[in-house]
Amino acid sequence: MSAAEAPPFGVYIHWPFCLSKCPYCDFNSHVRQGGIDEPRYVQAFTAEIAATAARVPGRTVATIFFGGGTPSLMDPKTVGAILDAIGRHWTIAPDVEITLEANPTSVEASRFRGYRAGGVNRVSLGVQSLDDGVLKQLGRLHTAREALDAVAVAREIFPRFSFDLIYARPGQSVAAWRAELTQALAAAGEHLSLYQLTIEPDTPFASLHAGGKLTLPDDDLGRDLYDLTLDQCAAAGLPAYEVSNHARPGAECRHNLVYWRYGEYAGIGPGAHGRLIVDGTRRATATEKRPEGWLMRVESIGHGVTVDDALMRDEQADEFLLMGLRLAEGIDPKRYAALAGRPLDLERIAALTGHGFVEATADGRLRVTRSGFPILDAVVADLAA
Ligand SMILES: C[S@@+](CC[C@H](N)C(=O)[O-])C[C@H]1O[C@@H](n2cnc3c(N)ncnc32)[C@H](O)[C@@H]1O
Ligand code: SF4
Repeated sequence: MSAAEAPPFGVYIHWPFCLSKCPYCDFNSHVRQGGIDEPRYVQAFTAEIAATAARVPGRTVATIFFGGGTPSLMDPKTVGAILDAIGRHWTIAPDVEITLEANPTSVEASRFRGYRAGGVNRVSLGVQSLDDGVLKQLGRLHTAREALDAVAVAREIFPRFSFDLIYARPGQSVAAWRAELTQALAAAGEHLSLYQLTIEPDTPFASLHAGGKLTLPDDDLGRDLYDLTLDQCAAAGLPAYEVSNHARPGAECRHNLVYWRYGEYAGIGPGAHGRLIVDGTRRATATEKRPEGWLMRVESIGHGVTVDDALMRDEQADEFLLMGLRLAEGIDPKRYAALAGRPLDLERIAALTGHGFVEATADGRLRVTRSGFPILDAVVADLAA
């Protein structure tokens, strides 16, 4: 198979450090006052890349994603060394997409040229809000001005960029979100990620929520905010291609598409997840989450993997549904049948279609409708049952 025909293979690199912990966030991110020994981490990332490539050799890497935590705290030399290691062990596709998540402070924007020189060709900025009061509530270390300045620097330096906003925040009205989204769309490039605030267990926001001190929009308002988001982004030429992701057609994040199309990807670094096809079997991998524990594990046994499970047919089919139905393009029912060893239940599809939650496309795919997206988990659970 030539590189052009090979299914896209992605590499996810997790950088687990942040300058401070945002009160809503439950990503695997840690604050370390004493600084981080980056050369030691480079060695460990290099070792884990080598160990992973030994299990899945000969792949052509179509996408690389530095996620976090805050990868824009990495020295550009660290990013460059990790990219070199990937290139030594796999072939890198000529049109590879290399994304790095960045926090939009001026300090981080000052490193953008270094990342670009190292090969990064796309950044995703965590803007979160364009309102300074809200940014404070969200525990962010940047202002709206700084964020817009970082977006402008990203636009100048990188061929592609995106930014994230969090909406459906406490007290947010439709009118306020309309104004903020209008401003965001004026600053946007070809891609925007717009997430409804979720209350994650064991976060400071979860305690506030439990104590009645943080009230989220109710379902109706959440729905209005979501509808507005879809309409306004589509009108601006960035239709939703996934529940929370909007892009000019052709400018989707190809790395995330590898996940949502249930492709193959390696997860490297503390707490990274992978789906690897080893000897024809799809395996779910995960690494030690604590950075220092991961480091010690890699330094003693050459990798940080703590979970490495062969996935049963049903598990693969369920994951395929869960990921694929997030996409506006939906799923190919034939691929479901091939994974599960049985087709989707036609009666369930008919019932869900009758309720207007799913629909068949002209080319025989199955997708969730706008009415179905707010209850996506229930739709998936029903189809997978
Ligand atoms: C790993 S974080 C982004 C990286 C970077 N550290 C930052 O914060 O700018 C990925 C994105 O997830 C979103 N996110 C994190 N926690 C969330 C929550 N509880 N609800 C909604 N969105 C959330 C934020 O928009 C964030 O930019
Ligand atoms: S939202 Fe980003 S900066 Fe804040 S704690 Fe999470 S990963 Fe770190």
